[in-house]
Amino acid sequence: AQSDRDSMFILNEFARDYFVKKLHDDPEGKAIGLSYFKERGFRDDIIKKFQLGYSLEQRDAFSSEAQRAGYRSDYLLKTGLSAGGENNSPLIDRFRGRVIFPVHTLSGKVVAFGGRILKKAENTGKYVNSPESEIYSKSRELYGIFFSKSAIVKADKCFLVEGYTDVLSMHQAGIENVVASSGTALTHGQIRMIHRFSENITVLYDGDAAGIKAALRGIDLLLEDGMNVRVVLLPEGEDPDSFARKQSAEEFNRFIEEHEQDFIRFKTHLLLDEVGDDPIKKAGLITNIVQSIALIPDNIKRSVYIQDTATLLNTREDVVIAAVNKIRIRNY
Ligand code: CTP
Ligand code: MN
Ligand code: MN
Ligand code: MN
Ligand code: MN
Repeated sequence: AQSDRDSMFILNEFARDYFVKKLHDDPEGKAIGLSYFKERGFRDDIIKKFQLGYSLEQRDAFSSEAQRAGYRSDYLLKTGLSAGGENNSPLIDRFRGRVIFPVHTLSGKVVAFGGRILKKAENTGKYVNSPESEIYSKSRELYGIFFSKSAIVKADKCFLVEGYTDVLSMHQAGIENVVASSGTALTHGQIRMIHRFSENITVLYDGDAAGIKAALRGIDLLLEDGMNVRVVLLPEGEDPDSFARKQSAEEFNRFIEEHEQDFIRFKTHLLLDEVGDDPIKKAGLITNIVQSIALIPDNIKRSVYIQDTATLLNTREDVVIAAVNKIRIRNY
């Protein structure tokens, strides 16, 4: 019901304010949480802007305070901020001893939280996130969109990164047109949200096998939705956050400008390494790229990419055209 959703948003706002206060005012929060962000190199203005917080280690610190403030246990459970409560047992906090990243909707409402552990632990995931709920569907939200949308419009371009801290570091480096898919596979819903602000997207995923695989999958989805897709391949083992930290903002910006490439060049260079002189493998590479091109809805853009591919792969253009058309006839 609508009032349920409203109550959940109001509770999340209370939780957001609570976590922010703990980070800045509580001795544990300052000593552990705030110093964690500082050690990672995040500036105060970034910490404030993104409303970063801290959840105390005590197992019921938040749940108890929320209940004392009059928030009902059913909403604490529905938002996933608390667990337990069966047979009148006390509620316990989902987020304990973690730094907190609130997730905002397009309009700035707090819809979920991500909590990161501070120390390396073997058995727990690095991040704990709010569960799916009446208000939160992970695949519909984009981390950072509320703080980035005006910059996306202004630049007529959006960077897509994997993680929370990548968004923060890009903002810190002055690149504010950026959102994160938060480790999940990109969805058409998320792409449509970006498309409202710009048609141009640059995928800037982690420079590891998982990031490259996710980029390849994301590219096809983006092409299908009519986006113009570029990619920046980061050095092996780096993500935008770690890489930005190793250099000045100017150097980071320059790297991105110089390494931004069209999705066809990205795919070609990536796959060409495996192909070598083997004509069968080369045919496979052409098929792979042609499959992506066939997804592009706009005729003119498609034919430009066909020309590019023919040149890049040193193949006759009519061969590429025929291959694209064959796939389009099969699919539509
Ligand atoms: N993620 C998650 N749960 C995990 C691991 C990752 O929800 N157990 C999501 C988070 O949104 C994270 C993103 O996937 O930001 C990318 O994951 P990863 O690259 O592993 O983390 P980083 O963002 O690089 O986090 P950090 O720099 O803090 O280590
Ligand atoms: Mn469009
Ligand atoms: Mn990663
Ligand atoms: Mn990462
Ligand atoms: Mn990282």
